[in-house]
Amino acid sequence: MGFRTKQIHAGVTPDPTTGSILTPIHQSTTFVQDSVDDYMGKGYSYSRGGNPTVRALEEKLTALEEGHDTTAYASGMAATVAVFLGLLQAGDHLVIADVVYGGTYRFADQFLPKFGVDVTFADAADVDAIRSALRPATRLVFTETPANPTLKVTDLAAVSEISHEASVLHVTDNTFLTPYYQRPFHLGANVVVHSTTKFLDGHNATLGGAVVVDSAELHEKIGFARNAAGLIMSPMVAWLTLQGIKTLSERMDRQSASALAIAEWLRGHSKIDYVNYPGLPDHPQYELSLSQTSGFGALVCFEVHGGVETGKKLMDAVELWSLAENLGAVESLITHPVTMTHAAVPDEERLEAGITDGLVRLSVGLEDVEDLIADLDAALERI
Ligand SMILES: Cc1ncc(COP(=O)(O)O)c(C=O)c1O
Repeated sequence: MGFRTKQIHAGVTPDPTTGSILTPIHQSTTFVQDSVDDYMGKGYSYSRGGNPTVRALEEKLTALEEGHDTTAYASGMAATVAVFLGLLQAGDHLVIADVVYGGTYRFADQFLPKFGVDVTFADAADVDAIRSALRPATRLVFTETPANPTLKVTDLAAVSEISHEASVLHVTDNTFLTPYYQRPFHLGANVVVHSTTKFLDGHNATLGGAVVVDSAELHEKIGFARNAAGLIMSPMVAWLTLQGIKTLSERMDRQSASALAIAEWLRGHSKIDYVNYPGLPDHPQYELSLSQTSGFGALVCFEVHGGVETGKKLMDAVELWSLAENLGAVESLITHPVTMTHAAVPDEERLEAGITDGLVRLSVGLEDVEDLIADLDAALERI
């Protein structure tokens, strides 16, 4: 079955009791059991452990990522935390990309050490840096590609290979490209994390996450952590996300085409130092991106002249673009990572990771691209 067919039909069948074409919202805390001898006979007991509406979304995501199974979460961060809780213990070592979403960085930097897990941040675009960060106690390598916010690309197959040589699992965050453009299991990853809040929902309507795995053993361990910590997604969020995913491919194709047009336009602007979009043929990681993805996504980064102050001014000068901390939805958003999403990253580390003072991140939505360019043009004129 093709991706477009699966994004509509996978995991969902008309409700057997009513014929409802949409999966019902099973807004129930508990599920009545027929007898103690047939406990969980219908598959559910208490919605912290599992829920039929959430399950429909999990089955859809398993089909789209071509993985073994999926668990869904209250947020993308809850999904990442469930992976750490399920797969790490005191004395273990984690290697994590130096450029990841700021909340992932914060959890790895400030919480994992409290539980006795050692953490090394390494440049995931440099396979040798990942290899030399590995230790006998390393259990996981965590990557994100393209990474938030610099769009640095990781060679997923190469990182999977060196991880597996060392008997280490490779976990990757596939939020930015989604399975429509990138299938990490085909490149050797063992665990795929999503913030479904972004492109999968696509409408700025929910906060959610998912973990797709390549084996029953990993599903069991991570699912156990989800239940123990109470991290599951709500049925209403699962239902909204099920509807959002049905148009994923169409949204991503249109938003990515607009992103490329905007990146090309920005490149010629006198107030811009550089533009970073992996879909520009002279981008240093263009060939790598082409080899492992079928599209470049809807995020564009650029550096404005004048550092932090000019970056902040631009945030105030735009009108059609919304100044807001999300990405992947139909509304176009603009952020200044240094003062917003990545404010938690210490200056020295963020500069080393390429998160510079004037860096601006665009999440290109579904509006007419001419209107988006005109608004940026007017805003750049004003600053
Ligand atoms: C790449 C990536 N992963 C994970 C997250 C965390 O997701 P959530 O905000 O749904 O907790 C984000 C949020 O921006 C993200 O951009």
